[in-house]
Amino acid sequence: MPSSTQLSLHVTETPEDLAALAANLVIYHCEQAIARNGRFTLALSGGTTPTNLFRLLATPQYRSRIPWEKVLFYWVDERCVDPDHPDSNYRVARDALLHQVEATKFYRMKGELDPAEAAQAYENLLRQHFDLAPGEFPRFDCVLLGMGADGHTASLFPEEEGINIRDRLVVDQRIRKLKSDRITLTLPVLNNARCCIFMVQGSEKHAVLAQALNLLATPDLPAQRVRPVNGELIWVIDEAARKG
Ligand code: 6PG
Repeated sequence: MPSSTQLSLHVTETPEDLAALAANLVIYHCEQAIARNGRFTLALSGGTTPTNLFRLLATPQYRSRIPWEKVLFYWVDERCVDPDHPDSNYRVARDALLHQVEATKFYRMKGELDPAEAAQAYENLLRQHFDLAPGEFPRFDCVLLGMGADGHTASLFPEEEGINIRDRLVVDQRIRKLKSDRITLTLPVLNNARCCIFMVQGSEKHAVLAQALNLLATPDLPAQRVRPVNGELIWVIDEAARKG
């Protein structure tokens, strides 16, 4: 079957509406995945935007709609810090969601390890979990992504090499402008997903969004290069990001 990316854009009035729309999209893809093969593989990003979504999914109105025992949580990227460090993407999800619901299957990137060692360990975990042969990439049911004002996504930054790596599932990155080490899924993994959902909010993202959503332009930004080869690409933005 020829490859095709199904693209949709949703604009919500407020960040709270964005979280609600994203929650319903996650639940929809969870239902589809479980009907298809009995489990839902979900990869989480960090940053501040997903927190509203995590907290909403933990509320009684939403938590009852997800069979948490069938959800396998992974991470898109992680800061190279301890799991209890305020900057840890795992910690944010753990405190806002994972420890609030009956989630039992979550597989964090071990930010406390040497970056290269942690990246290799996570790659090995993905190869095992997805039963991959050499050269194969995992196909997540859903990947939640954000976008920085510089157009980065995951921990794939415009001026760093990671965005161009094609023969790895997970890499460590020294982000020079942040003076910090990160671990991140690579672009081929993101583009092998059944669905990538970008959540982008706030007027400070308007300029980069105008560039990222221009499908006719050369995809220069890392976020622009996320296009699931056989899957869905969903942008969920709020009115502040749309109008600047
Ligand atoms: C991270 C994220 C990163 C994030 C963007 C947007 O580890 O920081 O994975 O890619 O999605 O930086 O962050 P905000 O949601 O805070 O704007």
